[in-house]
Amino acid sequence: MPMNPKDMKIIAFTCTYCAYNAADLAGSMRIQYPHNVRIVKLLCTGKVEPILLLEAFRYGADAVFVAGCMEGECHFVQGNLRARQVVEHTKQLIQDAGMDPRRLEMFNMSASMAQKFVQAVQTMTDRLKEQGPSPLRAPTTDSATGGVEQPNLSL
Ligand code: FES
Repeated sequence: MPMNPKDMKIIAFTCTYCAYNAADLAGSMRIQYPHNVRIVKLLCTGKVEPILLLEAFRYGADAVFVAGCMEGECHFVQGNLRARQVVEHTKQLIQDAGMDPRRLEMFNMSASMAQKFVQAVQTMTDRLKEQGPSPLRAPTTDSATGGVEQPNLSL
C-alpha cells in the first residue's frame, strides 16, 4: 500500500560523534529532507541491541536505521562493526517475523557528511513509499485497557 511521506515514522539511532553531527549539520545547512525522522542519540552505535531496534518497530516506527562512524573510525574501536552485525541479525529476525528486512538499515558517515545523512533518510523514505506502513504499526483498541490504544504485539 503506497504511503504518504508525511505519515511515515522513521527512527534513526545515531552515534554522537558522527551521524548526529551530520544530521545537525544538514539542519544548519538548511538541506531539505523528509521531516518524518526522529533521531535517538547514542554514545556509539555499538550500544545498539536487537531489542532496541525491535522495540522501535513495536512502538510504531515504519522504518529504523542505525548511523555510525565510518568503518575504522569508531571512537570505541569496533562499535560500528558490532552495530552492523546487530543490524544484520535483527534484519533476519524481522524477516522471520514476516516483515521486509529493508525496513532496517545500517549507514556509516562522518560528522561532515550532512548529505549522506540526508541520503539515508531519503533511502528509507523511498522504501516506505513502496512498502507502506509497518504491519506492527496498526494500533489495537482493547476494552480491557479502557479503550486506550496499545501497540500491536505480534512480533
Ligand atoms: Fe561512532 Fe562508535 S563512536 S560508531
